[in-house]
Amino acid sequence: MSNRVIMAAGNWKMNKTPREAVEFVNDLKDRVANSNSEVVVGVPFVCIPGVVEAAKGSNIKVAAQNCHWEPSGAYTGEVSCSMLKELGVDYVIIGHSERREYFAETDEMVNKKARAILDNGMIPIICCGESLTQREQGVTKEHVRYQIKIALLGITAEEASKIVIAYEPIWAIGTGKTATTEQAEEVCGIIRELVEELYSKDVAEKIRILYGGSVKPENAKELFAMPNIDGGLVGGASLKSDSFEKIANHDA
Ligand code: 13P
Repeated sequence: MSNRVIMAAGNWKMNKTPREAVEFVNDLKDRVANSNSEVVVGVPFVCIPGVVEAAKGSNIKVAAQNCHWEPSGAYTGEVSCSMLKELGVDYVIIGHSERREYFAETDEMVNKKARAILDNGMIPIICCGESLTQREQGVTKEHVRYQIKIALLGITAEEASKIVIAYEPIWAIGTGKTATTEQAEEVCGIIRELVEELYSKDVAEKIRILYGGSVKPENAKELFAMPNIDGGLVGGASLKSDSFEKIANHDA
């Protein structure tokens, strides 16, 4: 058994208004008060102030779903890391496949964002994962290794040991089609091996690697019990407090 704390991170994507977000977190905080997992909600930018306030004194941490890498400037519509830090954000999700697909986020941008997040005292949750075609063509390993190698350029060993990586096969996102426990474990293991190759065994032992893609109460326990899977990045099932509670309390 590793010493890594299991993380149950919700990615709300573009869901919930600020008011709905506060109501949700107020309801969730008692439900997860005794959870052994680290509970994180990844919320839209406009929900952050209310959610941080609602989560005060609870064990719920707050993630943003994106950021810009520059400290400030003429970037209409963007949000900097210092803005997020000032609001009390703990984690920032970057490189999600939806951002890569719909907003042309590249590995190089993910790397710049990771640098900026760490420089501002927050932790990046770096997403990676292959498409169905890539899996069928047998290039999953190469693809995920490439994504993570670029994302981690210039990141020190000390920083790397704190960050979180989320392996999310694109074909399993929002499809109800979860990767098998073996498939998820295999790729999370490949990522851990890469981290050992890039840094050391010690960093590989510390870094947390999540699985994402149709995680639900029915499969969370089995997935999170795998040696290389340290929790989940949860989309749809994180929007309902009943199901997210069950995922966070999967070992209860
Ligand atoms: P679903 O859990 O809805 O498949 O979404 C996964 C995801 O994209 C989390 O970031």
